[in-house]
Amino acid sequence: MAYETILVETRGRVGLITLNRPKALNALNSQVLEEVVAAAEAFDANARIGAIVLTGSQKAFAAGADIKEMQAKSYVEAYMEDFFSGWEHFTRVRKPVIAAVAGYALGGGCELAMMCDFIIAADNAKFGQPEITLGVMPGMGGSQRLTRFVGKSKAMEMCLTGRMMEAEEAERCGLVSRVVPAGELIEEALEVAGKIAEFSLPAVMMTKEAVNRAYETTLAEGLRFERRVFHSMFALDDQKEGMAAFTEKRSAQFRNR
Ligand code: CAA
Repeated sequence: MAYETILVETRGRVGLITLNRPKALNALNSQVLEEVVAAAEAFDANARIGAIVLTGSQKAFAAGADIKEMQAKSYVEAYMEDFFSGWEHFTRVRKPVIAAVAGYALGGGCELAMMCDFIIAADNAKFGQPEITLGVMPGMGGSQRLTRFVGKSKAMEMCLTGRMMEAEEAERCGLVSRVVPAGELIEEALEVAGKIAEFSLPAVMMTKEAVNRAYETTLAEGLRFERRVFHSMFALDDQKEGMAAFTEKRSAQFRNR
């Protein structure tokens, strides 16, 4: 598929998707949605890929959903097309997806970063849910995911005031896993993704599934789920290899990559 709003490349076992609408600060229109989902699904289905990185530019990861595209929509149009629901396909990708965020991650941009498995932020990153300033509210998961990431008080303040959060605050409150110098963002994210992609892929995918389960169920059910998946891992060649490598003091050669 020829893409017009994103760049897609592979670096070793890592798939890299770069949002590329510089004139609109990577605003997320319906074409971006279609292309990001198609590229992520293609990497997910590609046996030579073990992890995915999603990034934008130095100035903007994404400045939100495309306001110009949606401003004239009627309620019935938004309802009938179930506007924004297409992004759910992106959240169903089973391999790890890392968001590498520099510059603005606002509205849908912040929400897209939160759909990824974790966020590495450049020191110039700015996160926010400014929808209230447009007379609306977050529609791609912000009111739910931001609240789970940073807790009610800060999420409520962010969504009700539209204020932006700098990278340092985002790390302090758990929105991002860590902050790196802007010039090193992509290399850092690719290195982390490359490391993940060297592990046993089924073990990585099961781990992602288990951590995500923590957000969807009770603690007791989540712990039972974790234990059952953990037990199932003893059926993997890679469990035998990983543990043998440890006892033999050598590095593991995982077969299921
Ligand atoms: N949609 C459409 N176009 C956008 C856009 C967006 N979300 N954000 C920026 N652009 C466009 C601007 O209109 C401008 O285009 P023109 O040159 O044709 O005028 C271009 O990108 C550059 O933007 P600015 O000139 O505004 O750049 P700046 O550096 O002065 O300001 C900014 C940067 C503070 C991020 C500012 O662009 C801004 O406030 N953008 C909108 C942020 C926003 O409100 N996002 C939420 C969108 S709604 C949403 O996401 C709903 C949801 O829950 C999913």
